[in-house]
Amino acid sequence: MTIDFAVVPVAGLGTRLLPATKSQPKEMLPVGRKPVVQYVIEELARNGVKRVLFITGHGKESIEDFFDVDQELIEFLRTRGKEDQLAALEFERNDIEYAYTRQREQLGLGDAVRCAEPFVRNEPFVVALGDSILGLHGQSKAVERMVQICIERDAEVVVAFEELESLDEVVHYGIAQPGKNLGGDLFELVDVVEKPSPSEAPSQLAVASRYVFRPSIFEYLKKTERGKGNEIQLTDAMRKLLADRPGTGIGLKLPKGEERYDIGNFPSYFKAFTDFALADEEHGAAYRSYLKSLLGN
Ligand code: G1P
Repeated sequence: MTIDFAVVPVAGLGTRLLPATKSQPKEMLPVGRKPVVQYVIEELARNGVKRVLFITGHGKESIEDFFDVDQELIEFLRTRGKEDQLAALEFERNDIEYAYTRQREQLGLGDAVRCAEPFVRNEPFVVALGDSILGLHGQSKAVERMVQICIERDAEVVVAFEELESLDEVVHYGIAQPGKNLGGDLFELVDVVEKPSPSEAPSQLAVASRYVFRPSIFEYLKKTERGKGNEIQLTDAMRKLLADRPGTGIGLKLPKGEERYDIGNFPSYFKAFTDFALADEEHGAAYRSYLKSLLGN
């Protein structure tokens, strides 16, 4: 079985990044040279994804425009002799089929994923949040591994996790209750809690925005009531599923060098921009010198 379908929710309002996100999607914010969502799609393509369903919403049209082939722009660059700039548009030709559906109301991530149900075949699929990039410039191969794990171990849910540096950060993420170690960086996922307080957190392992589900998740999403933030939480649907079908959830700790860049708040957005700009092949070295001079060492 090959799993080549990914659902990419991009409907959230990005209120933590206002005013930058007032009239543009947070998924279109640049990180170095590219908008966030381009890294996400390139990462998915690198991991074997061939079909992407975006869950969009009000004000997200620029994401659709971005992935179209822009013939007018191509002609413009050709006639002005700017062939070298055409290379920046090569991603328009990548080997991916795009589809778009809209979440009609802001009811949360769980509801956004539920919008994918009519488009999912009877096989596992990937969910990749459109505001997070795995690995520098999206170089992670975690999704491919998660897909293999799902098939080989017949799991219902496989989730990527990152170890948080401080317990105070648990309030921003879904947090795992790990069970037995399944070897290396894999563990049994017993339960997951959405944005707990530090005293309630079962670990410091945070859901890192990549999931593999079987269609069974929809059964639980339909039964999920509004939770944290008065929204329908994907985490709450997962915890019901894990309680009903113990032993079918697997967590993967992201390997070193494949950390998650979260573009959902300013501190981690600034960090991502700096890391990506420093690693830029053409301009990274000059940027590094500039930062050194600025910081005085
Ligand atoms: C969502 C999920 C949360 C997860 C996070 C990853 O939260 O609900 O479980 O850890 O994405 O970025 P949000 O960032 O949409 O509040």
